[in-house]
Amino acid sequence: MGIKRIGILTSGGDCAGLNAAIRSVVLHATKDFGWEVIGIRRATQGLMERPIDYMYLNSKTVEDVLVKGGTFLGTTNRGNPFKFPMPDGSVSDRSVDIAEGYELLNLDALIGIGGDGSLAILNRLATEGKMNFVGIPKTIDNDVAVTERSIGFDTAVNIATEALDRLNFTAASHSRVMILEVMGRDAGHIALNAGIAGGAHIILIPEIPYHIDRVCRAVKARQARGHSFTVAIVSEAVCDAGGETVTKSEQFGECRLGGIGQALAQEIGEKTGAEARVTVLGHVQRGGIPSPLDRLLASAFGVAAVDLVAQGKFGQVVTWQNRQVVSVPIEEAIATYQAVAPNDALVKTARGLGICLGD
Ligand code: F6P
Repeated sequence: MGIKRIGILTSGGDCAGLNAAIRSVVLHATKDFGWEVIGIRRATQGLMERPIDYMYLNSKTVEDVLVKGGTFLGTTNRGNPFKFPMPDGSVSDRSVDIAEGYELLNLDALIGIGGDGSLAILNRLATEGKMNFVGIPKTIDNDVAVTERSIGFDTAVNIATEALDRLNFTAASHSRVMILEVMGRDAGHIALNAGIAGGAHIILIPEIPYHIDRVCRAVKARQARGHSFTVAIVSEAVCDAGGETVTKSEQFGECRLGGIGQALAQEIGEKTGAEARVTVLGHVQRGGIPSPLDRLLASAFGVAAVDLVAQGKFGQVVTWQNRQVVSVPIEEAIATYQAVAPNDALVKTARGLGICLGD
């Protein structure tokens, strides 16, 4: 089919590198194929609204976005179009409005940058609404299956590592247990990667249920060896041996994780006598200047996504595998999610370094 005009949107939680991916799509699509590129604002909501909320993109509009955090198109991680929350409190299936928006804009294809949840929704919208769709994976959680890396993960790990570097000094100066709580949902990739890189003594991840007694034993063992301080990193969704996860609250009908750091500090303090303090890194992990690796990944994914559109290969997501960009059916990418495997090289590394994983 002859492609003349494509749309691009970002969906789900923001992260560093989204703008770099948009830029890559725009540069390759306009320079090498002469296509028009339309940026849809605020994920699928821009296509749902009337008038449609969009902007034309060209090399000028993306001139200065490579290093910028967030997404200049805006995004949302709420408002599933199949169960869209209406002002009267009811939910409505707005998927047809999105397919209609695609038609009204005369789009020949749509590129969507999103995590596993967004890719699943976008893929269903595309299938039911007969839209030509290609996906690009992004998420600080790095839990999209079939890709070794998603956009935003490296920057988040860098930020968490830097936080640990800083906390190490304060922990040592004050002889404290310093706990860093990080994001990642049900996957412990951020905690595991940053924990090793940042020299944490304790790393707790959702994939390995922890026993509080073993965590406290690790603190006491360090004390006994003459180390006055301990640094721990804990993933927001870790659960104890009884399978309990500490959830913070429910907001907009969705569960918000958080609070495990504080709960751990309390228990560690009571059981070891150490002064334990918590830092919750929160959305700091998602913002900021993308790392060079995220810029490279975003650029490679953007170019590859445009090439897939040019070849008419739709329903695919671009992935990073063994230093290659490989396209995979979206169905395959959303069928499972990428957790930390028990035999992961970094799990073995952590154990080899004597880091307590709580089990
Ligand atoms: O999926 C990315 C992520 O940052 C998770 O790590 C975290 O649990 C969640 O989003 C937070 O979402 P929100 O920005 O809605 O609080």
